[in-house]
Amino acid sequence: MRGIIQGVLWCTIWCYCMASSQANLYKGYKVYELAASKARSANLDFMLSQLANNRTYYDVYTSGSPAHIMVHPDAQPQFVDLMNEQAVNYKIINNDVGHTLRNHYEKNQKLRNLYPFEGRLGTERYYTHDEITQYIENLAQLYPDRVFIRTVGRTYEGRWLKTIKITNGDRRANKNVILVDGGFHAREWISPAAAVYAIGELVENYETYADLLLDYDWVILPVVNADGYVYTHLNEDTRMWRKTRQPSSESCIGTDPNRNFDFHWNEEGASEDPCAETYAGPKAFSEPEAVVVRDLIKSYAKVGKMYLTLHSYGPYILYPWGWTLDVPDTVEDLHEVAQAGYEAMFNATGVEYEIGPSTEVLYVAAGASDDYAFNAGFPISFTMELPPGGQHLFDPPASDIDGLVKEAWIGILAMARKVVEKYPLA
Ligand code: ARG
Ligand code: ZN
Repeated sequence: MRGIIQGVLWCTIWCYCMASSQANLYKGYKVYELAASKARSANLDFMLSQLANNRTYYDVYTSGSPAHIMVHPDAQPQFVDLMNEQAVNYKIINNDVGHTLRNHYEKNQKLRNLYPFEGRLGTERYYTHDEITQYIENLAQLYPDRVFIRTVGRTYEGRWLKTIKITNGDRRANKNVILVDGGFHAREWISPAAAVYAIGELVENYETYADLLLDYDWVILPVVNADGYVYTHLNEDTRMWRKTRQPSSESCIGTDPNRNFDFHWNEEGASEDPCAETYAGPKAFSEPEAVVVRDLIKSYAKVGKMYLTLHSYGPYILYPWGWTLDVPDTVEDLHEVAQAGYEAMFNATGVEYEIGPSTEVLYVAAGASDDYAFNAGFPISFTMELPPGGQHLFDPPASDIDGLVKEAWIGILAMARKVVEKYPLA
């Protein structure tokens, strides 16, 4: 009897420690929203880039306006002093990131039980990489004359990456192509969700989209950085992972797959520090996941008319260039298509995606897939950053998935229609 009581007691303590040790990583971290006057905004940008180097204490979520930065508890007094000194207005938008992450993790587990995977995906919760892969394979089995799965490579940890090609089933070869990917950055969960929604619509409601499938095929890779995505599902401490999972140095893991492309690789906006969130990698295409996207881009370079890579958070529709402040000669075409997306979404929900060249709207970031695709021959190439959500911004609550992905789909559709009109089959 004593043994049992002791055992129970021991387990209670042990289990408690295990559970709480997991929740400690981001305990007391806060997220601040910063707004500097126009005159001081260059100053703020500079400050943020300095703080971003201090990775132990700071994580710059976005340096857009407003900027968001997560700050370690020990650095908060100093940080607040600095903001006051520099006359930057700040407000706390998350008071305890650890707490939020734990809540979200528990909610996600509950939803997983409530909505077990039964072969189809809806928008009621976030799905795992395995579920997404299973789902697209099921679609190909259900609609074997219209839907095709292709294994396009393997991740560092050995996961298979598969594209789904959606056609109207007329078996005509050499159609134009719209290439879409999601899940470059692991923590941006709304991105694979948006890709999955697009897949479901195009496959299940293909008659509605007959105009978009007549001379065009769609090729979609829903989760590029599958290792990272799986990692963010492990627990609340791993939820904020961004990079790949290939070790980058003795003490750090991961490369930013969206700095790893061989177009102005390792130039501005990419880091040479293997521990940085924007590490460009030891060489261009060091990451197998980036190689997969490169090969897709190359294989569709002639017929590909729009490349769309889904990220969060914005909301933005960004077009080249992202490695320089210069804009391409065809900026008007890019803008026209982005504008169609903007208007459709604005009319549907009132959301205002900001549209424009990456470097101007957001920041310079060389070696990204959008610039690579544009340079390779896709006349239209966009990074679409879905809106923020939830208390730590990268994690819109599951109840928001439906609205966000439907809104994004309205924009994607409008852009695709513009593309089909502007670039008829040769
Ligand atoms: N948030 C994305 C990133 O940091 C934006 C990329 C925009 N494209 C670019 N070429 N800079 O990767
Ligand atoms: Zn991203």
